[in-house]
Amino acid sequence: MTVEGLHIETHPHPGEPVVRAPRPDPCAMVLFGATGDLAQRKLFPALYELSRSHLLPEHFALLAFSRSPLDDEGFRRQVREGLERHARSRPIVEAEWERFAPRIACVSGHTDDPAVFARLREKLEALHARFGTRGNQLYYLSTPASTFPELLSGLAGAGLLPREGPEHQGPWHRLIIEKPFGRDLESARALNRALWETLDERQIFRIDHYLGKETVQNILAFRLANAILEPLWNRQHVDHVEITAAETLGVEGRGRFYDETGVIRDMVQNHLLQVLSLCAMEPPVSLGAEDIRDEKNKVFRALRPITAREVASAVVQGQYEGYASEPGVTPGSRTATYVAMKLMVDTWRWKGVPFYLRAGKRLARRVTEVSVHFRSAPYSLFCTRTACQRLEPNVLTFRIQPEEGIALRFESKVPGEGVEMAGVSMDFGYADTFHKPIPEAYERLLPDCMRGDATLFARADSVEQAWAFITPILEALESGAGGPLHPYREGSAGPEAAAALPAKDGRRWTPLGERRGA
Ligand code: BG6
Repeated sequence: MTVEGLHIETHPHPGEPVVRAPRPDPCAMVLFGATGDLAQRKLFPALYELSRSHLLPEHFALLAFSRSPLDDEGFRRQVREGLERHARSRPIVEAEWERFAPRIACVSGHTDDPAVFARLREKLEALHARFGTRGNQLYYLSTPASTFPELLSGLAGAGLLPREGPEHQGPWHRLIIEKPFGRDLESARALNRALWETLDERQIFRIDHYLGKETVQNILAFRLANAILEPLWNRQHVDHVEITAAETLGVEGRGRFYDETGVIRDMVQNHLLQVLSLCAMEPPVSLGAEDIRDEKNKVFRALRPITAREVASAVVQGQYEGYASEPGVTPGSRTATYVAMKLMVDTWRWKGVPFYLRAGKRLARRVTEVSVHFRSAPYSLFCTRTACQRLEPNVLTFRIQPEEGIALRFESKVPGEGVEMAGVSMDFGYADTFHKPIPEAYERLLPDCMRGDATLFARADSVEQAWAFITPILEALESGAGGPLHPYREGSAGPEAAAALPAKDGRRWTPLGERRGA
């Protein structure tokens, strides 16, 4: 409910921003998987938006790689059609498109053919000469993980991806890899080894688009810039933390991929654990990439392992009815599209505080949020023998999407002569408060990579730590030892069995649809 007269003011601080992102370096970006869903829905819209807002390097070119033969004009038409549907600012402004489109070129072929990398090289050299991109090369692998070894060896073999040591000067070569980063601990380690055979860790950018979301970045900033929170941000005052990523969408034409992946690999191993680490980490010694990533990694190391025997009591998995007849999905598939789990972070700060995570497709509402539930007031003066006002504990909610913002729920006296209490919410929406549209995650992450800032990318050690935690859970679930796969109705809140998870501890999920503090 919106309260009329609610007044929110922002007070910009004088002085320079503590981090002012420099302009991204001139570069040519080579995109593998350029005709794929991610490229059409997210990457080209982000690049177009950056170009429109003059946030791309002035000297920039994009070389799209596709297996099917395409000429530059044909490919640009395809990009334009994608933008008409998915761009953040629509309709497409002709003058903006005319500025963006000529920077896109195309090369096609099969990556098992070494000649294709020679052609790629020629095209790149021509683009560098034409657009003044100074030989800087950014490779984006938006293709299935199974293609990575072939692509890496093809690029390295053609001299397109040389290793760069710490002292490296001159044109740079970087690689962005999309998730899923492996299928389990062993494959993630193998992938890291394959990458390190060719590249230095500094050249590798493992993308997790959740880290590019403005509200995810604000978790840490909000925590650390508000001194009233720090004394409360621990086991003495926090009762539990709830992290939800509910989607209304189903598998949307990605049935085959999803069926091999499932919700834990798709959402938990990466996005949700990354969000959890930002909530649970200790303050870093600086905002530098490695200081932040060191602290996040300690959280991953402190996740209490869930053993095969414990999976059935700590994890609930579900599948929406009708999933098994989605195109690309194996009939009778046992892939989970919903999961709820209880995690413990064994650090001094969080000992004994459960983190409840849930993620799922085809649920009642699209909502991604973190709710920090504080402990109840120690003693209730509001219950007598004849009357009782059941107070709710305070909850701080980071609304990651939609309606990005932060809400705090607290208790207040209702005006009047008696003593009647009511729950009240203070809620601020990002876009309205700061009068700015919220950029898409890729609009933040692509330029960061062009300037060599890895803060918002996943480092090898934490990716492996996250897999070390997740793999035994997956093994138990996939072997059938981890409990049943519960069916749930499309448009519901997920399987009913999920309620039992917090209920065993005397808690409950925030109902999907009910916004904490609203
Ligand atoms: C992707 C998953 O990483 O994240 C998708 O592969 C999921 O299955 C998507 O739909 C959710 O992203 P967002 O930004 O819409 O929350």
